[in-house]
Amino acid sequence: MQRRDFIKICAATAAIGTQPAFAARDLKPRFYSRALLVDERRQPLKAAGLAAGRNYIFHYPFEATPCFLLNLGKPTVQNVTLKTGDGGSYEWPGGVGPNSAIVGYSAICAHRMTYPTRQISFISYRDQSTASRITRPNMIHCCSEHSEYDPASGARVMGGPAPQPLSAILLEHDRNTDALYAVGTLGGEMFNTFFEKFEFKLALDYGADRMKNRVSTHSVVIELESFCKQQVRC
Ligand code: FES
Repeated sequence: MQRRDFIKICAATAAIGTQPAFAARDLKPRFYSRALLVDERRQPLKAAGLAAGRNYIFHYPFEATPCFLLNLGKPTVQNVTLKTGDGGSYEWPGGVGPNSAIVGYSAICAHRMTYPTRQISFISYRDQSTASRITRPNMIHCCSEHSEYDPASGARVMGGPAPQPLSAILLEHDRNTDALYAVGTLGGEMFNTFFEKFEFKLALDYGADRMKNRVSTHSVVIELESFCKQQVRC
């Protein structure tokens, strides 16, 4: 099933008020605006232009909530069943784009919410070439307390103290134009707690009047190396 079809089914089910074949505590996708992902020149980003293994950052669904955009370079697992820290379950449908290799996740660590700032990042994806002796390759690793997430399986927790996967960002890929869109989230969102915990810092970095604004028509994608001055490599 294509990503767009999956989303349409979920939206249609909600619209007609019927119960899908989910257990009582299953989590549904949360749809926000359909935001086109664009490059720094505000031109539509092409999926084919995403380098495999590289960390890209965009903001969604709020102007101050950073997310990873990753081309894993190979197909992801499809239809992965995952659980949140409070027992909710959901099914992550898999990657999008050529090879089904492109994924999006909130970059807010599910343990104590370490996230990439303009100054420093303790959390990033490590491929074969950037993994260290204590980080497994092809994982998103948080150097704060070493939580590790598998982006090819819905950001399932593979190690460390994180109680749940990173929240997934639902993406759509337009085969005709090769454009990418962010349309919603799936899994354990932590945005309210994130805003409470980092309100002062987020207000400084993004503006108090803007940080909780929802992203509307587009979101700028930037390489982590350009977004942030220093990456901690553990
Ligand atoms: S905040 Fe990421 S492991 Fe603790």
